Amino acid sequence: MRSILCVTLLILLMSSAYAAALPGDSADGKRLHDANCMGCHNTDIYARKDRIVQSLDALEAQLISCSHMAKAEFSANEMRDLLKYLNDQFYHFR
Ligand code: HEC
Repeated sequence: MRSILCVTLLILLMSSAYAAALPGDSADGKRLHDANCMGCHNTDIYARKDRIVQSLDALEAQLISCSHMAKAEFSANEMRDLLKYLNDQFYHFR
């Protein structure tokens, strides 16, 4: 199980470095987001002018720490979908 997670993470990292578009399912990401992530903030902070996140790496790091705060245990696939949703809808890093 652990090695599957590592491989998935590796693929995620490699593809975020080389691919034009992020892998994953934005609609699934939105569903997961709306069910888990609106307890402390809504989506306005992703689009505010002085938003903190300024790169795809920073977005991934924020996603990881917010998932801990949300006490949500996402699989590697779910993290990928969430990242794609946030990037495609709000951040547009790639
Ligand atoms: C326990 C409260 C809490 C939960 C739940 C939470 N967040 Fe956050 N999130 C925060 C705080 C606090 C900040 C920083 C806000 C600030 O500095 O103004 C933040 C900031 C962010 C940012 C950066 C916004 C920017 O300025 O660019 C992103 C992206 C984000 N959260 C995503 C998520 C996602 C995705 C989830 C669900 C997995 C989630 N958050 C759940 C508390 C939370």
